Amino acid sequence: MHSYSDEPIPHPPIAVPLLRAQHLSKRFGGVHAVNRAAISVPQGSITGLIGPNGAGKTTLFQLLSCFLQPDEGEVWFDGHPIHTLQPHQVATRGLVRTFQVARALSRLSVLDNMLLAAQRQTGEQFWNVWLRSHQVAQEERQQRERAWELLERVGLAAKAQDYAGSLSGGQRKLLELARSLMVNPKLILLDEPAAGVNPTLINQICDHILTWNRQGITFLIIEHNMDVIMSLCDRVWVMAEGRNLADGTPAEIQQNDQVLAAYLGQ
Ligand SMILES: Nc1ncnc2c1ncn2[C@@H]1O[C@H](COP(=O)(O)OP(=O)(O)OP(=O)(O)O)[C@@H](O)[C@H]1O
Ligand SMILES: [Mg+2]
Repeated sequence: MHSYSDEPIPHPPIAVPLLRAQHLSKRFGGVHAVNRAAISVPQGSITGLIGPNGAGKTTLFQLLSCFLQPDEGEVWFDGHPIHTLQPHQVATRGLVRTFQVARALSRLSVLDNMLLAAQRQTGEQFWNVWLRSHQVAQEERQQRERAWELLERVGLAAKAQDYAGSLSGGQRKLLELARSLMVNPKLILLDEPAAGVNPTLINQICDHILTWNRQGITFLIIEHNMDVIMSLCDRVWVMAEGRNLADGTPAEIQQNDQVLAAYLGQ
């Protein structure tokens, strides 16, 4: 028989959400793109977000990363409310996103695209240039080193001086991913990292995500490629018509009749 001692009973570790949102809504005219949706992304996880075209996934990302203000609801990141902040403010706190259509600046070199992502450090404030020029120079050197290291990691170092516009669709996705790592993020939101990418590069992208996740970065990933979702994600959230439809393990989601019906009905 189990006997109770005076010692406190140890609690199992609770998965702390790094990002959570509830009651989020966003309307565009008559379209209720996000309709009282919620999501929770545990610290250290790779969480998936799926749903048919037009389900509101990208709009939800816009709200989570503060590119759009919600009509109602709240977003908490790392223990603080963020829904009233600007995108650069949440990026400074460690929440960054990539875009469904990669946003590399075509007329800039691949390396400069990387360095641009690291702006808003000391060097951006002109008085710092005067007061702390040594520190600014050192920071720039560190950013360059980090940019080269990341480009090497994703296999784009040989293209560092090329225009970003000369990259293939898949290489642009790799650049977006590498760029998001420039600010030492805690959480990266990836909007369709495998869309338009050939199978070899998809595998590479998945490997990078897994490696960075093991190094402590949390991911929330929108993706239509179910192989990618099933192989990467610990947990999957499903949206349809702006609302939460289901959430669970990839295996649970695969067997969920409502999810299947939402996809067939699109
Ligand atoms: N800026 C906007 N202005 C007007 N309507 C918009 C805007 N952005 C999104 N919508 C509409 O909101 C709904 C949700 O769009 P959203 O892009 O969030 O869907 P999604 O789940 O990301 O779709 P997909 O899988 O095709 O990328 C759609 O009906 C879309 O047409
Ligand atoms: Mg989208």
